[in-house]
Amino acid sequence: MSRKNKKQKFSENRENRNVLEEGKPIYDSVQGHWNDFFQNENDLVVELACGRGEYTIALAEQFPEKNYIGVDIKGERIWKASQTAMQKELTNVAFLRTHINNIDELFSEGEVAEIWLTFPDPRPKERDEKHRLSNSFFLSMYKRILMKEGWFKFKTDNTSLFDYTLQILSEFNVKDHVYTHDLYHSELLADHFDIKTKYEQIWTEKGETIKYMKFRFG
Ligand SMILES: C[S@@+](CC[C@H](N)C(=O)[O-])C[C@H]1O[C@@H](n2cnc3c(N)ncnc32)[C@H](O)[C@@H]1O
Repeated sequence: MSRKNKKQKFSENRENRNVLEEGKPIYDSVQGHWNDFFQNENDLVVELACGRGEYTIALAEQFPEKNYIGVDIKGERIWKASQTAMQKELTNVAFLRTHINNIDELFSEGEVAEIWLTFPDPRPKERDEKHRLSNSFFLSMYKRILMKEGWFKFKTDNTSLFDYTLQILSEFNVKDHVYTHDLYHSELLADHFDIKTKYEQIWTEKGETIKYMKFRFG
């Protein structure tokens, strides 16, 4: 089988219905209309920084009664995710290629039932705090698009990013907040669904513990 180059992959992204990206009419009109896109009234679950979509796809297979949307900016990763979802004939999955900074222009207030943030880049340099996907700017956006009582769930291998996020959360009114620095040896393991993202796999093989938290905005 011949390997596809970037241009071919990007061209397929433009053709494939399960990819939403700038330049497609649906990208500009989907805010507030995701249920029309999926043609059902099922809950919307968003995975931020989904990479090649392994987690989104595995959740979508386990929970066909929900709709899953993986978000990432990298076109080649989104292509891989889109192809896998099509091969598996999953109709409850879509991929949104965008900067997460645009997320509140793509979902309306309270439109999302659950958000997963999985293994975002840690961005340890102080000057890069603005890029950390769990800083207060991003958390405020997530709060806006989440429905009342909606869960926010966050996994990382990176202790500094995890502790930074705990500290940022002290500025927010959150409830039902639970967390662990070692998910696999925690009573929260039930939230794992026996699915590892690609980065989760890489870091656990290197001996890192997986940090996990979930909460709802008050
Ligand atoms: C370390 S990878 C994790 C991928 C996947 N969640 C996993 O666990 O295997 C981080 C991903 O975040 C994406 N990303 C980082 N900042 C982003 C942003 N502002 N908007 C959209 N995607 C972003 C990158 O493109 C990359 O695919």
